Amino acid sequence: MEQLEFMDIKDILIKKPAQINLRGWVYRKRDQKDIIFISIRDHSGVIQLVVDNSKVSKEIFENAKKLTIESSFKIKGVLRKEQRAPEGYEIDIIDLEIINIAENYPISKDFSEEFLLDVRHLWLRSRKMNAILKIRSCVFKAVRDFFIENKFYEYHSPILQSVNCEGGSTLFEVPYFEKKGVFLSQTWQLYAEPAIFSLGKIFSIEPAFRAEKSKTTRHLTELWMAEMEGAFINFEELQNYGEKLIKRILKEVLDKHKEELKILKRDISILESSLEKPFVRMTYDESLNILKEKFDFNIEWGKDLRTIEEDKLSKLYDTFIIITHYPKKVKAFYMKEDPKNPEVVLGFDCIGPEGYGEIIGASERESDINKIKKNLLEQGEDISQYDFYLDTRRYGSVPHSGFGMGMERIISFIIGADTIKDAIAFPRTMVRYKP
Ligand code: 4AD
Ligand code: MG
Repeated sequence: MEQLEFMDIKDILIKKPAQINLRGWVYRKRDQKDIIFISIRDHSGVIQLVVDNSKVSKEIFENAKKLTIESSFKIKGVLRKEQRAPEGYEIDIIDLEIINIAENYPISKDFSEEFLLDVRHLWLRSRKMNAILKIRSCVFKAVRDFFIENKFYEYHSPILQSVNCEGGSTLFEVPYFEKKGVFLSQTWQLYAEPAIFSLGKIFSIEPAFRAEKSKTTRHLTELWMAEMEGAFINFEELQNYGEKLIKRILKEVLDKHKEELKILKRDISILESSLEKPFVRMTYDESLNILKEKFDFNIEWGKDLRTIEEDKLSKLYDTFIIITHYPKKVKAFYMKEDPKNPEVVLGFDCIGPEGYGEIIGASERESDINKIKKNLLEQGEDISQYDFYLDTRRYGSVPHSGFGMGMERIISFIIGADTIKDAIAFPRTMVRYKP
């Protein structure tokens, strides 16, 4: 076949050129005696090809016959209007060249969720995963664009760390030569705070690891986290950054990926209302009152909100909820004690709509070094390990704040996933680490 330019299916449907060179994989196939219908797919879509025995050479017709599901091939053809075709067009084949004949493809019509996870490397080719991975790519871009436009520097913390930020129970310890006490990062935070004294406002999107023993639909052991930290950012501004970031992501996905959302059968009205409406903001105390009033939940003050309570709250609104001023004892050691009430912290969780759970965890940071030391000691930590971190409070300490957003959590909400495993190519959970 001549080396003409190959076009994407999407471009073909937009530009409608007379002659077409296209390459891709067999998506579906229907053989009749003198005519073969092949749906070809590439990264951009699917279109039907027609091979007519009376119009092509014997060799081409025989080659078309040989093609199995997921075989790769190239064609030359002519675009033709066809009202019955889903795309409104079909391509009549003039020439066809086989690249690889696929073995019997293991994914057919009936499959369990577990089986699709076993063959995830192949399932990535499905229209569903194709749509999800495009949206995921867009979400990553939106996060980067948002922070760069807001004058944040991209900054990277180590993944191998010698301290823990979010409590020892979800730490992955890794063998590190003959040393002990080396862990995979739970968050960039303790290595990000030192950098604000140099860069001011910083962000990152990086992997985070949590040895979560829970088999829920919203926990991964390896996740990607978008994090930000900024000198002189106060608690109010921090909440605004969280809201603006999420809205920026929603806008970008709604602008660019309506087609993919349609493939995923996502009801986008909830994405639209979350984009348009101000996020609901309430204190932890107010949330307890609402839960009591609307659902007759009696939650003891000081207990963390559980999944069921977050879910109930989220169903009252068609947008995100920012819950602030949690009890100090349920939150991390670095969160700033509220100067007006030492029992609570200037931290917030941003809860997604429709029961998608905590999307962002955030706080202004404690600036009192003695309070930090006391919190660490109460947690049973070896303070000497944290000495580098405490230096941030010894040398020119400033008010500062930051947050972390679970990328798979926000993606799950956007795509309307039943499980967070759908939001990442190769999910890692307590029981799933292959392929
Ligand atoms: O609330 P978390 O634990 O906050 C921190 O790690 C802070 N140090 C971040 C910061 O202030 N820089 O985690 C942040 C977010 C959660 O809100 C959630 O969206 C996500 O990370 N997350 C998980 N997502 C999937 N699976 C898990 N096991 C997750 N654990 C946290
Ligand atoms: Mg949290």
